[in-house]
Amino acid sequence: MAKSIFACQQCGAQAPKWLGRCPDCGGWNTYAEETCEKPDKLAATRKGAAEPMGGGKAQRYADVEAVVSARFTTGIGEFDRVLGGGIVPGSLVLLGGEPGIGKSTLLLQAAAHFAREVGPVLYASGEESEHQVKMRGERLGVADAPLFLLAETCVERILEEVDRLKPSLLIVDSIQTVFSLKMASAPGSVGQVRQAATDFLFTAKGRNLPTIVVGHVTKDGALAGPKVLEHVVDTVLYFEGDRHHSHRVVRAVKNRFGAISELGVFEMTGSGLQPVANPSALFLAERPEQVPGSAVLCCLEGSRPFLVEVQALVSSATLGQARRTASGLDHNRVSLLLAVLDKRAGLSFVTDDVYVNVAGGMTVDEPGADLAIVAAVASSLRNRPLRPNTVVFGEVGLAGEIRATSHAPLRLREAAQMGFTAAVLPEGNLGGVDHPKGVELIGVRTVGEALDALIRT
Ligand code: TYD
Ligand code: MG
Repeated sequence: MAKSIFACQQCGAQAPKWLGRCPDCGGWNTYAEETCEKPDKLAATRKGAAEPMGGGKAQRYADVEAVVSARFTTGIGEFDRVLGGGIVPGSLVLLGGEPGIGKSTLLLQAAAHFAREVGPVLYASGEESEHQVKMRGERLGVADAPLFLLAETCVERILEEVDRLKPSLLIVDSIQTVFSLKMASAPGSVGQVRQAATDFLFTAKGRNLPTIVVGHVTKDGALAGPKVLEHVVDTVLYFEGDRHHSHRVVRAVKNRFGAISELGVFEMTGSGLQPVANPSALFLAERPEQVPGSAVLCCLEGSRPFLVEVQALVSSATLGQARRTASGLDHNRVSLLLAVLDKRAGLSFVTDDVYVNVAGGMTVDEPGADLAIVAAVASSLRNRPLRPNTVVFGEVGLAGEIRATSHAPLRLREAAQMGFTAAVLPEGNLGGVDHPKGVELIGVRTVGEALDALIRT
């Protein structure tokens, strides 16, 4: 007989009875009933479902063949970059993102390329009918290719189609809409999502079939449903972007086959997502020149440097209470930097509102951004523009010291490529070799020195 248990839909914790508040994650009203099969029956289905990967026997390290698995290119350079150079056969990739950000669009484009270049692709959609997918495909200019669409939500039936078609790539859009017959709970519940992910994992490994699954994220930015999903898959990619801006960023947060925090930049156009080869140009496109409160930061994401504009506006507070607003930057970090400016550079903001923003809707969360924030805020307070054609980067410490940041040569090369002629950077970064020519380097040790170098009085 089927036994029922209760599972938290947020963290996956289980209990024999319903609970109003999850003792593990503290979520309210997150428990839902799930039925699980009796162990002996479960073992029987397991046996049929999956063969053990290595024949069930342990192997000596030296005897294990080192397979340098060739990667398949998805035909979209920026997508390959976040995957670590293409998709690895037999890997399970999770692509997360808010609704409407462009996950289905990107995957359909990738699927069309893949089908043309590598082999047949099965695109299983639980959210849209074949006609809807086709309509989007028409917009994207998908040409004739062995691309198979399947509107289906049952995992077992999707896997039957995999058996029949023997595709080279499987795409499942989305993991929250599919259900496995092995579980009685509703699609999207923790148990279902976990079961479906595990089924796709076994198929991916067992058949060496690369599989990409789409996952929705909740309001607070976590992947909806269980964290367990992130542990099961090989690679986790996040699709980010501001719905009011056309650019989109795909970020790797976990990758068993490559570097993490790699970044791919796209622009959403009328005919789908176009890779942006030069993000710096995109982010600096509308930059006002020689205006107070604008600093150009050379930040680094993964191994990729790019330039963004950090803007600040300091204006006198009207209602007695000063406001601090940061978008695209960590709010606490901004408050901390204002305190450093107050204490170490004698700039007071007690009676001022301070707004800081990264132009273009980008998010920057590396410490190397500190100096640019400080420079932009000070520039706005003094109402003087910063030194022209100059980029800044560097971490600011609590004593007002400027600390060296990683990969200075990479950042400077990007600045040189974009035509900047000077850089204000931590003095500790000057020692490095191969700094590009054509960029004047101004090393600074303290916040005060940096502001003297940047703002002419
Ligand atoms: P979609 O891929 O359906 O998002 P997701 O699968 O992440 O929910 O993208 C939908 C949005 O993209 C929609 O708001 C319209 C826009 N879009 C374009 O701007 N151009 C296009 O060519 C396509 C296909 C979509
Ligand atoms: Mg979609």
